[in-house]
Amino acid sequence: MTATAADTLLEVRDLTKHFTLHGDIYSRLAGEKAQTLKAVDGIDFHIRRGETLGLVGESGCGKSTTARLVTRLIEPTSGAVRLKGEDLLAFSAERLKRARKEVQLVFQDPYSSLNPRKTIMQILSRPMEIHGLARSWTEKRERVLDLLTRVGLGVEHIDRYPHEFSGGQRQRIAIARALSVDPELVIGDEPVSALDVSIQAQILNLFRDLQEEFGLTYLFIAHDLSVIRHISDRVAVMYVGKIVETAPAGALFGKPLHPYTKALLAAVPEADPAKPPPRLTLKGEVSTPIDPPPGCRLCRRCPNETKICSEVEPPLVDVGGGRQVACHNL
Ligand SMILES: Nc1ncnc2c1ncn2[C@@H]1O[C@H](COP(=O)(O)OP(=O)(O)OP(=O)(O)O)[C@@H](O)[C@H]1O
Ligand SMILES: [Mg+2]
Repeated sequence: MTATAADTLLEVRDLTKHFTLHGDIYSRLAGEKAQTLKAVDGIDFHIRRGETLGLVGESGCGKSTTARLVTRLIEPTSGAVRLKGEDLLAFSAERLKRARKEVQLVFQDPYSSLNPRKTIMQILSRPMEIHGLARSWTEKRERVLDLLTRVGLGVEHIDRYPHEFSGGQRQRIAIARALSVDPELVIGDEPVSALDVSIQAQILNLFRDLQEEFGLTYLFIAHDLSVIRHISDRVAVMYVGKIVETAPAGALFGKPLHPYTKALLAAVPEADPAKPPPRLTLKGEVSTPIDPPPGCRLCRRCPNETKICSEVEPPLVDVGGGRQVACHNL
């Protein structure tokens, strides 16, 4: 389904990031052949205002690279990224600075993402200073106190340092820092993966409450399907640099269509031992993104494989109901 320009906040078209391995002069002198690692290889997706798109896939499939590309922390090899209908890759320095306010990232590890030498007041007020959002010290302090309350921390925490907090509390601080500049899109790159399961649910609920309160849009990255299920309106499934299926969350979890999505869902341990065992498993190891052969990336692992799969890359096509799937043999 194509979203209209007005309700689309982020749109990605044929986005590609290839890394060259062993391409430097020393590797060549050592006789090593240059290789292309196709971290992100022609992906398309969009996120509508106010929704949460969950991006799920195994380690190394290109999720973080996608997050870095859409925030322009790294430059793509090719493709287009449109933020609020504007070409992100053509932004001037001034427009890019505004984009850095509009789009905020929350990372996995709250231990390394907060400067240990700064107090919470300093950590949360710095982005406001950079973007000129609060003039006086009193105004900044008021905003910081308000943020702390909104993320479930106490006003007494304002002059403490990151090491005085638990992992879950630190992630609340990281979320407060993202919110400190009134963003529109928040990208969470595995923001709950480093936390205990009991704390994960609290932080996920916080994300949902804040989304409602501030009308936020989320790109939520995780490898854990239960996390994705809890938080997403729509889901995009990634496999070795490609998006293989996108669908509304209910439809995807109710009836996965792509063989890889089916295998991912089947691999989730069933809480009820009376339920039947996994319906589908894949043979072999995760395919490599380094100089991948032509055809479907799931080739040689897929139970539905036919001749065309090793020859032609399946495009992501509309299958109705707001779903898209990249498979020759549905
Ligand atoms: N700067 C880089 N140079 C070379 N290869 C890179 C670089 N950054 C990422 N890659 C490779 O690109 C692929 C995708 O990496 P990415 O970090 O996007 O995966 P991911 O899906 O976020 O994985 P994880 O779940 O482990 O965080 C991996 O094979 C990775 O080794
Ligand atoms: Mg990652």
